[in-house]
Amino acid sequence: MSADELSYPTYLHLDRLLELQQPKSVPEHPDELLFIVVHQASELWFKVLLHEFDQLIAQLEQDDVQAAVFTMQRINSLVGLVAHELRALDTLPPQRFKQFRGYLGSSSGSQSAQFRAIEATSGLRESHFMAALQEHGEIPAVVQRALARPTLQALFLEMLARRGVTLEALYTEPQHGLLLMLAEAFLEYEQGFAQWRFLHVQLVERIIGPMTGGTGGTLGAKYLNKTIQQRFFPELWAVRARLYAG
Ligand code: HEM
Repeated sequence: MSADELSYPTYLHLDRLLELQQPKSVPEHPDELLFIVVHQASELWFKVLLHEFDQLIAQLEQDDVQAAVFTMQRINSLVGLVAHELRALDTLPPQRFKQFRGYLGSSSGSQSAQFRAIEATSGLRESHFMAALQEHGEIPAVVQRALARPTLQALFLEMLARRGVTLEALYTEPQHGLLLMLAEAFLEYEQGFAQWRFLHVQLVERIIGPMTGGTGGTLGAKYLNKTIQQRFFPELWAVRARLYAG
């Protein structure tokens, strides 16, 4: 299609995009469309996030700190909106969710390959996480690719080492401007991601209660609450305790 034939609907493939919301409930439950759209929109944002992380990793490897700061600002803004989006489902009362939950079969957010790829890209490697990855059969290619790369923390620490800057010096010497901004942006990302986890677990408790198991076979909110403690940048948190202790 030539550029003059392109229009808003053809450029965005709106005919295909708007075909993809297909409620399973019969008769169709009036709340299922919202449920599908919040999930699909989140997956689209996960796609953009993974794309931005590719840019970020290249920028870190090329020592382009300024570009990395900008990319992290974009990533943080996206994480904020994907978290906020969950709030739309706060309006779904438990008994109404129950009316269509049976139609979802064994679908569960824990099967989201892109979410796992974001966690893996960000730096999760611990045994609990690795076990969760194996639960749904073979690890998807997008996750394997992320696992094969160094963690963000490792890339950042290598960048500091190349410049001969220690983590303590980064925070205490005045000349590290952009590098310090990048470290703070990583911490903000960690906080933003934990806020997604927290809003999600609150949503889960609000809709299915704190003790109901998930469709993915977990203990539901009990399992999800534990994930809030996970850290992508343990070193950036540890250094703060050392700075505080003085
Ligand atoms: C009615 C709203 C929702 C309920 C009741 C719900 C419930 C749950 C439960 C119980 C789990 C634990 C795994 C399991 O056993 O299934 C889970 C995991 C998950 N859900 Fe949701 N969820 C909801 C909305 C969402 C939305 C909108 C997203 C956006 C993509 C999402 C993404 C995820 C992800 C990524 C996980 C895996 C989290 C992890 O393992 O750390 N969920 N969900």
